[in-house]
Amino acid sequence: MPLPFSPGAAAVTPQQPGALGTGRVPLTPRPYDTGRPSGTGRAHGKVILLGEHAVVYGAPAVAVPLPDLSCTVTVAVNAEPADGLGCYTPFTIPAHGAVPSADGVLPPGLCLLIDTALRRARRFDIPAMEVQVESDIPYGRGLGSSAAVARALTYALGQLLPLDLSAAEVFDYVQISESAAHGRASGIDALATGSTRPVLLSDRHPSTPPVAAEAWIVVADSGSPGHTKQAVAMLGAAFGEHALRREKFLARSTSLTCRALRALEQGQLEVLGRQLTDCHTLLADLQLSTGCVNALVDTALAHGALGAKMTGGGLGGCVIALTDTAAAASFLAARLDENGAAQTWTAPIKPGRSA
Ligand code: MEV
Repeated sequence: MPLPFSPGAAAVTPQQPGALGTGRVPLTPRPYDTGRPSGTGRAHGKVILLGEHAVVYGAPAVAVPLPDLSCTVTVAVNAEPADGLGCYTPFTIPAHGAVPSADGVLPPGLCLLIDTALRRARRFDIPAMEVQVESDIPYGRGLGSSAAVARALTYALGQLLPLDLSAAEVFDYVQISESAAHGRASGIDALATGSTRPVLLSDRHPSTPPVAAEAWIVVADSGSPGHTKQAVAMLGAAFGEHALRREKFLARSTSLTCRALRALEQGQLEVLGRQLTDCHTLLADLQLSTGCVNALVDTALAHGALGAKMTGGGLGGCVIALTDTAAAASFLAARLDENGAAQTWTAPIKPGRSA
């Protein structure tokens, strides 16, 4: 059955392992604490290596998974709807700020996702549902928190209802929520939060880019939230008025990403690093960076990073920096911690070729 809100089902065909995520999930509902029927799903964070914003217009972008930053979502059937909370009784664990839920209400995109899944499964017998989110992925930092929660929730619903979802269907469900969260979502976050390999999205077509040599990414949180939806809307308005500016941006971003892809394929990490730094300049020229983010980029470059840039939607959020070894990544993370980063993480870009 086609999904009513599917933004690009036809454009996405599963063809390479990793590119569309891990695909089908086990369908046996797992026992929940009180023995209620339940399902559990897991997904992880991501960083955009290059091409953010341009990818919204079909230009290429590359994302790298952050497997150590993960989230787990559990959904359980409740016997009765809770007063005042509509169909669901969302109970989130906000220790790591996974979902802004001070009022106990799930974001509208996730509610839409749940509605779609219930309708698809024809489960009109479920009076209420409890949704638990446990996440290490800081919310609003451009690290894919919203997409990871949506993906984990989709897996959890797939297990509970049950729904035998293909990888392309999982992508569509995540996009239901992402389109609400970002306004206009390219799909790269939806893909990368379920992939164990880097993801290239070009002309809305996902694939796995070849990587010749191991490289390391240091992620540094500026401590102030990014604003992806606002940033996407801001560029949309600016480009609507100045088509030439849009074309120049897309051409430059495409050229940097294509050079970076060649460098990844040939193991030329210094060349790759230069594309990252140039990409930062391009995005900063569009007013997408902030003083704190620029300062972290400068710190990273001053302490030996091969390249550094803002990552994701911008207007705050995180910086990524490139190194060639794990030791250099740890060293750089320590320098960023000393120089204003709120938190840092490191992640490898693992060598490999498309299957
Ligand atoms: C957000 O991680 C990346 C953006 O390009 C938005 C999108 O691709 O959906 C800013």
